[in-house]
Amino acid sequence: MNILLLGSGGREHALAWKIADSVLLTKLWCAPGNAGIARVAECVALDVADHAAVIAFCKANKVDLVVVGPEAPLAAGIVDDLAAAGIKAFGPSKAAAQLESSKGFTKDLCRDNDIPTAAYERFGDAAAAKAYIAANGAPIVIKADGLAAGKGVVVAMTIEDANAAVDMMFEGGFGAAGAQVVVEEFMRGEEASFFALCDGEHALALATAQDHKRAFDGDKGPNTGGMGAYSPAPVMTDEMCRRTMDEIILPTLRAMRAKGAAFKGVLFAGLMITDDGPKLIEYNVRFGDPECQVLMLRMMGDIVPALFAACDGQLNHFSLRWFPDPALTVVMAAKGYPGDYAKGTPIEGLDTAAEVEGVQIFQAGTREEGGRILANGGRVLNVCASGKTVAEAQARAYEAVDRIKWPDGFCRRDIGFRAVKRESRG
Ligand code: AMP
Ligand code: GLY
Repeated sequence: MNILLLGSGGREHALAWKIADSVLLTKLWCAPGNAGIARVAECVALDVADHAAVIAFCKANKVDLVVVGPEAPLAAGIVDDLAAAGIKAFGPSKAAAQLESSKGFTKDLCRDNDIPTAAYERFGDAAAAKAYIAANGAPIVIKADGLAAGKGVVVAMTIEDANAAVDMMFEGGFGAAGAQVVVEEFMRGEEASFFALCDGEHALALATAQDHKRAFDGDKGPNTGGMGAYSPAPVMTDEMCRRTMDEIILPTLRAMRAKGAAFKGVLFAGLMITDDGPKLIEYNVRFGDPECQVLMLRMMGDIVPALFAACDGQLNHFSLRWFPDPALTVVMAAKGYPGDYAKGTPIEGLDTAAEVEGVQIFQAGTREEGGRILANGGRVLNVCASGKTVAEAQARAYEAVDRIKWPDGFCRRDIGFRAVKRESRG
């Protein structure tokens, strides 16, 4: 099989690493890729936004499957365009990708199908949004409707902060994504990420994970794309996983099929585990980054047949096995991220870091120049490790982090703290 992977982050390095391990693989390309991906795939300088160029590459190279990593090409309809050209692609159509690209679409779908989520209202102007806030009180959550790189959410602890967030969004603080605003109930509980592989009709539960969205230790600082993760999430007991499938994932697949927008690909449910059970915070229509990195470390079987089964509507004949050992990843980011940061700073010590037992390093924003690895983005490295416990995985990951010489980078030192605390309580 010839496979083309689209993307350039740590998620795509982990996917490339796992795909490269498949007995079915003949050749793997990645566009545009990064310095780490170049070790397991041939990187090609294709503009992923240029669908005609991607199609021409697939035809010229007899690509059997395109795997789409990030959400932007999915929301732009790359899977539809590839399908129209007769090329198989793993990921949802543009219509199905609305589960991520429009929060209002997802909220309406939940309401119409009794899928548990926070109570909400959608608004097109500030005055009506503020009246709803005044009637409901704080804490309350304000969200820009469209894609805002995971940053379009304000959890407001006071009415003043909520009103300020409404003004900021309608004044264009998140660009066009904020033309519509969702205001919703604040939910209390522990967050978890649940991943399911979907073929339009059937869903195969993958693994669970917990992300760390804030930039600094103790969940302080601004929201980021994710500063670290581990899998499994202890809060996701078998019972919670079963309820998530029955109450959230499967009703969503049925509703999407009824709309003529059957969902294929990875459905990533951001959940709040409340006293009443799992409630949906949001959907993403792709693997999480950095959650994918820990999922790939724990996936025992070959990923490639699973990707084909999802494309071909054959997941009901499929199962995947997982290593029981937990996996954890620490994100190393350029100083200043998620704000402004420098590019081009040198990173050393990656090879000695990778020698720590159980450690696997995935690269995100990196490039190679004259044999040196240089930082080339905000989130730059994913230092991952497996262990018998989360505490052991954590200790191994930080031992590797401490071998990496990158004075211009930083990371959180407390990734996994919730699970480690649970373990120490026994
Ligand atoms: P989202 O981009 O929708 O995942 O939201 C980002 C973060 O905001 C989530 O990970 C939660 O921590 C928080 N959040 C979003 N919606 C709610 C809600 N309704 N209640 C409480 N926290 C929320
Ligand atoms: N880590 C969260 C995300 O990928 O959206």
